[in-house]
Amino acid sequence: MATATITLNHYENHHSLTIAPPNSGLSLQGQVQIPGDKSISHRALMLGAIAQGETQIQGLLLGEDPRSTAACFRAMGAEISELNSELVTVKGIGLGQLQEPVNVLDAGNSGTTMRLMLGILASHPDRFFTVTGDASLRSRPMSRVIQPLQQMGAQIWHRSGGLAPLAIQGQALQPIHYHSPIASAQVKSCILLAGLMAAGETTVTEPALSRDHSERMLRAFGATVKVDSETCSATVMGQAQLQGQTVIVPGDISSAAFWMVAAAIVPGSELLIQNVGINPTRTGVLEALSQMEADVTLENQRTVTGEPVADVRVRHSSLKACAIAADLIPRLIDEIPILAVAAVFAQGTTVIRDAAELRVKESDRLSVMATQLSRMGAKITELPDGLEITGGTPLVGAEVDSYTDHRIAMSLAIAALTATGTTTIQRAEAAAISYPDFTATLQRVVS
Ligand code: S3P
Repeated sequence: MATATITLNHYENHHSLTIAPPNSGLSLQGQVQIPGDKSISHRALMLGAIAQGETQIQGLLLGEDPRSTAACFRAMGAEISELNSELVTVKGIGLGQLQEPVNVLDAGNSGTTMRLMLGILASHPDRFFTVTGDASLRSRPMSRVIQPLQQMGAQIWHRSGGLAPLAIQGQALQPIHYHSPIASAQVKSCILLAGLMAAGETTVTEPALSRDHSERMLRAFGATVKVDSETCSATVMGQAQLQGQTVIVPGDISSAAFWMVAAAIVPGSELLIQNVGINPTRTGVLEALSQMEADVTLENQRTVTGEPVADVRVRHSSLKACAIAADLIPRLIDEIPILAVAAVFAQGTTVIRDAAELRVKESDRLSVMATQLSRMGAKITELPDGLEITGGTPLVGAEVDSYTDHRIAMSLAIAALTATGTTTIQRAEAAAISYPDFTATLQRVVS
């Protein structure tokens, strides 16, 4: 079987990844174990820290983002054992009991850490907190959580434009019913977490349903949570008692998506991706691939600590263009970069709309995917709120850049497998944010 040459090159401040596929005969085969779900990993660490008693977490993602969450909550007194994917224990210190940290809390590259944590910090009376992040996070909008928290009575200072670093003087907060202008699980979760300490019911209504891991996990930890899926509303009852739990973190469908698309577009491929979380608020990528007529089957479906899980088998097939928009967007928000790669191989023109949120992710993912895939010869046009991609033009190897965005780095690596010639992805170390073993797994499935 032909194999690709995949090399990591180390420079002083960054890595690049060089991918040179063979002239013909490359295919991807075997089984893939994906890392733990990033969203669930953050929430397990946070709820574990503010619950009473011990939380045990199996399958935690060991990426940089959950490490940032663990470091922040350790700095506020939670005892979190050394992070590993077997078992992490969190000795919770109880709701409202976080200690004032003696230094700035650093959320690194992680929007989930900063936004969810803000709800918890703002509701801790008599404590003062400062929060920052890396250059990418310091350029991402925080007003979306600052404004509703201020409506609850929070005191938060920020740089102009609602940017971090932030300073928070914790307060006793009032419950609210917040109508969010965007479908965002980070906004929803931030307010629900703040509502845990408020006297009464706090409700968030969003324009479309975003991922519901917070609602599920809050319930598992003992909070009273009501969900109305028709109105896309979630309500938490304040002054809750949270009790430590065992959380088994399923594999991250957002990480699985790279292998799904890789197997779908590389002729002769078949991959079995094991232990993939298939929470219905996250499975938009399966629906988009099914619209594209990809050969995807779910096997061994089961439920693991309140989250649905399956093994996903993907075989190569010819793909058709599809339309991705409206309520589907929040259910595949993180998979749009890799779906753009799939669209390059689909017959016809794929149109992605209503995805302006991608401009405020770890990078401007619409602009970066359009420029980087164009360098490889793809017919891709940036729209104000999406992408238009006409499939069928073969890719050529090129020098491309992740813009320090993990999902861009991995999407470009999968695209590179199909190109004629060598592709070098600059700043490829970004993959470690959500998928530290990505390159090692890529090397294994192509050989
Ligand atoms: C996340 C929510 C999404 C997603 C992010 C993780 C979460 O962000 O893009 O990777 O864990 O709540 P938004 O809520 O900003 O859409």
